[in-house]
Amino acid sequence: MSQRKILVTSALPYANGDIHLGHVMEAIQADIWVRLQKMRGHQCIYVCADDAHGTAIMLSAESQGITAEELIGRVQREHERDYHGFLIGFDNFHSTHSEENRGLAESIYLALEGNGHIARRKIRQLFDPEKKLFLADRYITGACPRCGAGEQYGDNCEVCGSTHSPADLINPRSVLSGATPVEKESEHFFFTVPAFSEMLRQWIQGGAVHEAVANKLGEWLGEGLQDWDISRDAPYFGFEIPGHPDKYFYVWLDAPIGYMASFLNHCGREGLDFDAWWRPGGDSEIYHFIGKDIVNFHTFFWPAMLESAGYKKPDAVFVHGFVTVDGTKMSKSRGTFINAGTYLKHLNPEYLRYYLAAKLGPGVDDLDLNLEDFVQRVNADLVGKLVNIASRCAGFIGKNFDGRLAGAVDNEALIGEIRQASGEIAELYEAREYGKAIRQIMAFADRANQYLNERKPWEIAKTDRRAPELQAICTTGINAFRLLAGYLKPVLPALAARAEEFLAIDPLAWADLDVLLLDHRINRFRPLLTRVEADKVRAMVDETRGEWEARQKAGGKADRQAQSAPTEAFAAEIDMDTFAKVDLRAARVAEADFVEGADKLLRLKLDLGHDETGNPIERAVFAGIRSAYDPADLENRLVVVVANLKSRKMKFGISEGMILAAGPGGREIWLLSPDSGAKPGMRVS
Ligand code: MSP
Ligand code: ZN
Repeated sequence: MSQRKILVTSALPYANGDIHLGHVMEAIQADIWVRLQKMRGHQCIYVCADDAHGTAIMLSAESQGITAEELIGRVQREHERDYHGFLIGFDNFHSTHSEENRGLAESIYLALEGNGHIARRKIRQLFDPEKKLFLADRYITGACPRCGAGEQYGDNCEVCGSTHSPADLINPRSVLSGATPVEKESEHFFFTVPAFSEMLRQWIQGGAVHEAVANKLGEWLGEGLQDWDISRDAPYFGFEIPGHPDKYFYVWLDAPIGYMASFLNHCGREGLDFDAWWRPGGDSEIYHFIGKDIVNFHTFFWPAMLESAGYKKPDAVFVHGFVTVDGTKMSKSRGTFINAGTYLKHLNPEYLRYYLAAKLGPGVDDLDLNLEDFVQRVNADLVGKLVNIASRCAGFIGKNFDGRLAGAVDNEALIGEIRQASGEIAELYEAREYGKAIRQIMAFADRANQYLNERKPWEIAKTDRRAPELQAICTTGINAFRLLAGYLKPVLPALAARAEEFLAIDPLAWADLDVLLLDHRINRFRPLLTRVEADKVRAMVDETRGEWEARQKAGGKADRQAQSAPTEAFAAEIDMDTFAKVDLRAARVAEADFVEGADKLLRLKLDLGHDETGNPIERAVFAGIRSAYDPADLENRLVVVVANLKSRKMKFGISEGMILAAGPGGREIWLLSPDSGAKPGMRVS
């Protein structure tokens, strides 16, 4: 097989947040693939970087009282440490805030402009007159123009599902300053993506993405692409557009160019020819591993930019789904939004590498980390099956045969079968069918253990501790172990390194898995992996939840101190009759739950007493209070409900009422509660 030249990337994490299990999963998926390629003797280069630009990073630095450069420098060190902790073998980890990236972003932009692919138009946007900056949708909040639900961000309402322009919000406020935004005009630069529709259609149909993704993209293409706004006005943390002071590249323009910049930085150190990899017509292959939320950037804008600027387009974009924990979206209050650093404090990275690999495939399905299953599976497979093969044989070889393996194995058939699977297993890895590869490997581990159960080396040792048969059986076991550890090496590089040490062999390459280890002296066996302890998993979750609670408390206090917004203007006057139409009642929260897929909502079941015949009166209500209340703390408390509000169909079900609370939203929501003597169902007036 000829040597391939492969460049691999995983998405660049934002430089203002911690690396969490979602990022880790993506990096592990890519890293396994890269390690497989390297083991097979290909030239494979894996680069990544921090995505350092944008308003969020600028504001985050400002609120911490440091410069953006200081912030991204500190975060980059943390990110590199976390990835390293999970044994991610980047060949280079760089930053989008680098000279390489500035040079590439400028030259690519100038190429687009020169080719007539940049349009300029004036647009009107909401502007924060106090902070003096244009507000992205997520920085504007107000009440929904359709259903009136408070604290809805930007352009869609989570309560009723309506979509609207942020300018239509009732009482819009800037999240940054509390000021009322004003509309303001400015000139923006657009990349004319529709000019590339046909090229993109062909590229997508040519197998650049998984079928499920191709179908979705085909739909979007059918609806028609639009020009992409690639400029932002000062103040902005990023690169200025050449020739246009106070205009900056939107962070998503220079982010994917960061892949190139990291590679260019690597080329500088390693003496590689950048253009040989990135210009069309060469023999390199380029692959991006990304999550399903950022597909359009990588399959529309990015290939179109590369095409216009005369670079090679990626050979494929590998899209994965999201990590869930115990069946639901990672949640801070439940302690399942787990940071890489927190995991590493409690658990061995290879447990997670193995568990994720065992569940990963080439598709975009979400992947659930079930914490109970995690403990059980890692222990059963790695400790109970794989390491067990070695530990059952090593002692006899060490003590009875002076560490020497026999000159032949006892069971050619078993070893032959395991050896012959090497091509197939490599192909499964290549196709990102990691789950299938692991199943194959573990089936062999079962067979090897079964073989040892049948041959019972421990029985033979009792009668003749130096029997040649005993040596041959254990040599068979050790060889099975060596092959399986080799097959798992892309997933478990540290375990493989310990196995190599124990076997006294050079680092295993894929081709080595064709030969056996015979007539060879191995080292004394030391435990290769310890069991996962359920306590440690619990400690990790508790720590995550504890950190969240501490931040909530501290943040809440800071918010209250900072609160200086004047009292909001009063609504138009109403008469007594109008008010009397509102039927307010005391109610008891019978049940409170998270709503899957909704960040702001809780689902409440309210007890409103009972009717004349003794039947309970209950109401199901969706309340946008998740940012301030934990469901567990709500159960049994009294609240006030608008009892005659018409039922409303919402995105997540029907809401039969509304509960009352004070405050603008976020952490600042305070529920109204009658004093404790009130009974559910009592009229409030
Ligand atoms: N900075 C951009 C990417 C720029 S690439 C040129 C970004 N950063 S991110 O930090 O939000 O996400 C980085 C990667 O992590 C993305 O591929 C994203 O899909 C992935 N994940 C973030 N949360 C995730 C899960 N919960 N599960 C799996 N992956 C997810 O987007
Ligand atoms: Zn609404």
